Amino acid sequence: MKRTHLCGELTQDDIGQHVVVCGWVNRRREHGEHLAFVDLRDHSGVVQCVVDNSVDVRSEYVLEISGTVTQRPDGTINENLSTGQIEITDAEVNILSVAEPPPFPMDDRADDVDEMVRLRHRYLDLRRPRMQRNLRVRSQVNAAVRSAMVNQGFVEVETPMLMPTTPEGAREFIVPSRQRPGSFYALPQSPQLYKQLLMVSGLDRYFQIARCLRDEDLRADRQYEFMQLDMEMSFVDVDDVLSAVEVSVLDAAEAVTGVRPDEIPRITWHEAMNRFGSDKPDLRFEMELVELTDVFSATDFKAFATAESIKGINAPGAAADWGRNKLDALTDTAKSFGAKGMVWIKVGADGSFDSPVAKFMSETEQQELAKRLGASEGDLLLMIADDWLTTCEVLGELRNRMGRPPVSQGPYRYVWVVDFPLFVGVDATSGLPRPGHHPFCHPHPEDFELLESDPTKVRAWAYDLVLNGWELGSGSIRIHDPELQRRVFDILGISRDEAEERFGFFLNPFKYGAPPHGGFAYGLERLAAILAGEENIREVIAFPKPQSGLDPMTGAPGLVDEGQLTELGLAVLPPPVD
Ligand code: AMO
Repeated sequence: MKRTHLCGELTQDDIGQHVVVCGWVNRRREHGEHLAFVDLRDHSGVVQCVVDNSVDVRSEYVLEISGTVTQRPDGTINENLSTGQIEITDAEVNILSVAEPPPFPMDDRADDVDEMVRLRHRYLDLRRPRMQRNLRVRSQVNAAVRSAMVNQGFVEVETPMLMPTTPEGAREFIVPSRQRPGSFYALPQSPQLYKQLLMVSGLDRYFQIARCLRDEDLRADRQYEFMQLDMEMSFVDVDDVLSAVEVSVLDAAEAVTGVRPDEIPRITWHEAMNRFGSDKPDLRFEMELVELTDVFSATDFKAFATAESIKGINAPGAAADWGRNKLDALTDTAKSFGAKGMVWIKVGADGSFDSPVAKFMSETEQQELAKRLGASEGDLLLMIADDWLTTCEVLGELRNRMGRPPVSQGPYRYVWVVDFPLFVGVDATSGLPRPGHHPFCHPHPEDFELLESDPTKVRAWAYDLVLNGWELGSGSIRIHDPELQRRVFDILGISRDEAEERFGFFLNPFKYGAPPHGGFAYGLERLAAILAGEENIREVIAFPKPQSGLDPMTGAPGLVDEGQLTELGLAVLPPPVD
């Protein structure tokens, strides 16, 4: 016998057919004296089979059932099931495997089961319809992006997993070398260096569905291991990169949801910060930052008098929910993000202000403030006064706290954030600017003259793609001119010798004719999670790590035996004493 149909595929059109289905027992119910109903499940769904009740089958047994597709009798039709009109009768059961009772139910009830239990038995967790759907979303995303890239003339190239350490910023996983004890490979944070070298090789358009590894603290949008759609192109400008990436993202979204999103809008980094207080603005809700600096240009209120920038947001109708204690805690939150303080105002009847600092504001200031923020009774107004960036960043955090829906909640709002700054702030000890993305981003040519005189004002040809407040990906046009690279290194305080030692293997090839090039990479788990309606990328990864990084299913990371260590020339230190 051979399987003829999937369980969830059978419909009234199949009535009268003899079929063979295979799967797991979802449920068994006795039916009268001689019969039992067995709901058989495979990845496509569930079908009801009427079997002789002498057959000893229990939940999660694996069966092959052959029988005839029959119309269900009146009154037993299940409208909630795609196969609810039919059942398989005269069923013959062949037991392929017996099963112990599973540790949790194989349906949505397991959503409430402790995650460590789910992960310890991940192979069972993945039997559940939700997880089956999620893994299939991943597969649809992969297939769509791969064909989008191939159709646009990109060449898929695999780059090494064992590589030298790189200057990309994240902490690396390292691998000891047996043949050179004391030496280590690093696992790739991304294929960045190799993909740029492929441009020197004349590949012109490269892509890879690349596994990346970063030893970072795990969060909802971060795992140690993740996949990127990684790409690089030669002889292009920012528009070319963005549109090639956009085709692949929109194709993937359409493949999963059936709806092609509109063209993705663009805003500059400056506008994103100024209006939303974030370089990954969530455009699903408004609550934009409102400019108030000029309202307080002649104020007596000390906290506002000397500030470079004053901005506010209005959380409509939120006044009643925010008692004194909660507002104190919110002020502490604002401080933890770098603010010196936070001003809150509850708007009462007739527009009156309830706030500890209202008395320091003139009547005119209060009126203008209320007008700009569109204040009406019951609203909660929050204000920050600081340097421009701090004001924006802190209010951006507050905006998210006051209004942000869960990431997976529709609608999908994609946005390109372009013209990131080349440098972000200065290093506290050295006083030197710090690279915004990495030291190989191309400065915006309009800002070349500011490079040495006012580096933090220099924009880069660097851009991010954002979806519902999550950063999906980043990229830039790279520096291909060694002279310009040297200028940027000089600003970063990287000497020629240091550059040679750290990046020589990467930069020296540029001497042999490097084309202008740029690229991008986005996280496939992040895109798939949002498209699957999930809040955590773990839910779209077959075997993820929980937050602790310890895998409860395999026990990794584990100890290795002395012999292995000796071979690698390694010794383990005793754990540090606190
Ligand atoms: P970046 O470091 O911004 O850029 O990474 C690009 C995208 O990769 C995803 N990502 C992650 N996903 C899950 N877990 C993680 N720990 C994790 N870290 C990053 C994110 C992120 O936006 N080489 C450059 C790209 C380039 O310039 O071409 C790079 O890797 O979605």
